[in-house]
Amino acid sequence: MNYKSLAAKAVEAKSKALPTYSNFHVGAALITKDDKIYTGCNIESSSYSLTICAERTAIFKAISEGERKFKAIAVVGDTEGFISPCGACRQVISDLCGDIDVVLVNSKNETKVMKTSELLPFAFSDKDLK
Ligand code: THU
Repeated sequence: MNYKSLAAKAVEAKSKALPTYSNFHVGAALITKDDKIYTGCNIESSSYSLTICAERTAIFKAISEGERKFKAIAVVGDTEGFISPCGACRQVISDLCGDIDVVLVNSKNETKVMKTSELLPFAFSDKDLK
């Protein structure tokens, strides 16, 4: 699967978003080393801080199904520019997916590929806990 198709899966997932308070719809699609795709959307809570981002929804779905090795994650919002994953998601991508391709998608379905390590240089990691 190429990144245009992965981006299309993220766009599809965005239609499931539940951004009750922000009205900011986000979709994500995570592809495993075996080309299996897990999608996610943002889901908001009336206790705002309990909101979960699209990226973490997709990642936690995949991890909870036993997946451990990933190639890329695509993220899309209704933004003219390329959406920028939040700091919490950068940390979780770094911890659980490693230095993968992060495919940023804008509202015209254009893509920009960045590495996790570019988005989160000098990351805190499990190595710091030893
Ligand atoms: N959001 C995401 O789902 N992913 C991001 O990378 C940025 C922010 C969500 C969280 C919240 O539901 C809404 O966008 C506004 O912050």
